[in-house]
Amino acid sequence: MSYTLTTPLYYVNDRAHLGSTYTTLACDAIARHRRLCGDQVHFITGCDEHGQKIQRTAEAAGLTPQAHCDSVSASYRDLWSRWQISNDRLIRTTDPRHRQLVEQFFARVEASGDVVEGRQQGWYCVACEEFKDDAPGAEDPECSIHQRPLEWRDEVNLFFRLSRYQAQIEELIARPGFIQPASRRREVENFVVQGLRDFSISRIDLPWGIPVPGHPGHTFYVWFDALLGYLTALLEPDEPVVLDQILQRGWPAQLHVIGKDILRFHAVYWPAMLLSAGLPLPERVFGHGFLTREGQKMGKSLGNVLDPVVLLERCGRDAVRWYLLRDIPFGDDGDFQQQRFSDLVNNDLANTIGNLLNRTSSMARRWFDGGVPPAGAGEDPAHPLALAAQDAADRSAAALEALDFRTAAEAVLGLAIAANGFLNERAPWSRMKQEGQGEVVAADLYAVLEATRWVGVLLAPLLPELSDRMLEQLGQEPFESGTETLPSPVALSLEAASTAATPTAWQVAQQWGRLQPGLELPEPSPVMGRLELDSPL
Ligand code: MSP
Repeated sequence: MSYTLTTPLYYVNDRAHLGSTYTTLACDAIARHRRLCGDQVHFITGCDEHGQKIQRTAEAAGLTPQAHCDSVSASYRDLWSRWQISNDRLIRTTDPRHRQLVEQFFARVEASGDVVEGRQQGWYCVACEEFKDDAPGAEDPECSIHQRPLEWRDEVNLFFRLSRYQAQIEELIARPGFIQPASRRREVENFVVQGLRDFSISRIDLPWGIPVPGHPGHTFYVWFDALLGYLTALLEPDEPVVLDQILQRGWPAQLHVIGKDILRFHAVYWPAMLLSAGLPLPERVFGHGFLTREGQKMGKSLGNVLDPVVLLERCGRDAVRWYLLRDIPFGDDGDFQQQRFSDLVNNDLANTIGNLLNRTSSMARRWFDGGVPPAGAGEDPAHPLALAAQDAADRSAAALEALDFRTAAEAVLGLAIAANGFLNERAPWSRMKQEGQGEVVAADLYAVLEATRWVGVLLAPLLPELSDRMLEQLGQEPFESGTETLPSPVALSLEAASTAATPTAWQVAQQWGRLQPGLELPEPSPVMGRLELDSPL
């Protein structure tokens, strides 16, 4: 009944770009879906604010690290609000409460005997904040992700005894469904099978971090501190920081959504840290693919970074959400192509879905007293459109569960295509001219309007705003899937949970024939404008 999901906590070295927006939009769709299904959702996002990368960026900008972090994290907050992201929490790792939680967690890990001193030598990528596997003898190695030189490090640090967790981690990653998509499991297995090595969790001479209690001069390695942000975020903002309290607040998480670049941290290091602290493990880690733009990696040096603020202003939320969720298979890499973007938005949303609603509602209003026609045979649960609607709902629900947004979107679109096809085949515009065909036309239009209502209902997690506009045009109440959503009565009581579910309004709406004949329909106005992009984004 409680569902906790997280985005990565984004580095504040720079303002958000389309990559982080992509991850966050996808999580938003999941959070909304779970709320619509009656779960009490904890949707966590946030900012990762410590470490060398941030310190250097702030220095380069002539700011204190704190001032720099305050400014960039405020821009994240603003961005998520513009995109109407329904996150319940936004954690900043510079929050003083987070420091308290890190201290408590570290005390547990230390008490488990998992902290030892050791010497760390190796090549480090500051942009990844990670030691790389390059051999010590390598000459001028570069980070394969950032194409920047690695830096040689040789220091005495505190280490976390990851090696002790070899068997448990092997067992964990073999668990079906823990690492998703399944295609990514192999790379983690290959890493684990080489034998887990202890990793350093502190840095010396790096002031921009949380001090390690009892170890003067050491600050926590940024990743050790950042992962714990998921836990701090769960605590109520005004309750005392008590680590175990997370167990009452939604831990363990059902889902961490991350990019494939940071899978190892989430599928290996993080579970081992939790085991050491005696805390339960997250259920699932999903590593999605990366976005490129017109075939090229997005990057500042190429000058092809897509600014999510500009994108939003020029194209609107529905269009971008649709394109990213409908066209890019979530587990794979994907390419942002402007032409395809506008083609899909115009074909799918403006034409197939928007026109369907517009023309059906106009005909119904014109011929049936300004409202929904008598249902007749259109109400039959065995009507071909009723079967198509149920099929779309089933496929979309299963796909959302699997984070396969593309299939979910295609299922909904398929229903709109079926409804358009039915309409063209039945041609009510000609039938209406024939004598004695009024009832048949009424039933046909009823079925198409009802199928269109289902399209609006099923779009709610993916495109909440378009869903609202469609339902409004059909005289229906929209669904609340954002943070204001009250947990369903089921979520509130454990007894109710055991007697299983009272369906939510959204689930009830997925019953064929709920559109009330005679209901007045508002004057149709286009629910989705066309996207006309006359210059590059
Ligand atoms: N701070 C760490 C995460 C700590 S989590 C406890 C971090 N931050 S990050 O700012 O680099 O964000 C990385 C995430 O942003 C990726 O894992 C991915 O979800 C998203 N993306 C960044 N660039 C991306 C693309 N080009 N394409 C898609 N997503 C990308 O790593």
